[in-house]
Amino acid sequence: MQPWRRVEVTGPVGRGPIIAAIDRVRDDERARVLLCRTDAGELQATDPVCPHMGQPLTDAEVVSDALVCSHHGYAFALDSGVCVQPLGGWDTSLAVHEVREVGDRVEVRLAAPQPPPAQHEGVP
Ligand code: FES
Repeated sequence: MQPWRRVEVTGPVGRGPIIAAIDRVRDDERARVLLCRTDAGELQATDPVCPHMGQPLTDAEVVSDALVCSHHGYAFALDSGVCVQPLGGWDTSLAVHEVREVGDRVEVRLAAPQPPPAQHEGVP
């Protein structure tokens, strides 16, 4: 099981997604996660890159309980990472990480690495 890692956030995490660095103690490598909140105010953490075509989710929007990528409009459920738009889904999910708030700190436990975005013929 992955350890909890501190995420470097400089203020409260709101509804709009932010991308923040993680301290990786063991290998001194820095990684990033996307943090946001659902309509209900629940904190969520995901990979910061869209699994559709590998674009950054910097300008993604939270719509209800899903994260919508600004590039082609694919949407991913924030609790599972499952693609919920386009309708009928897609076979690649967005990695969702465990996240918790400890006082004013945010910590994540990274999910297993996802395979790189696939090249799907016929998928716009
Ligand atoms: S890169 Fe995100 S929907 Fe295409």
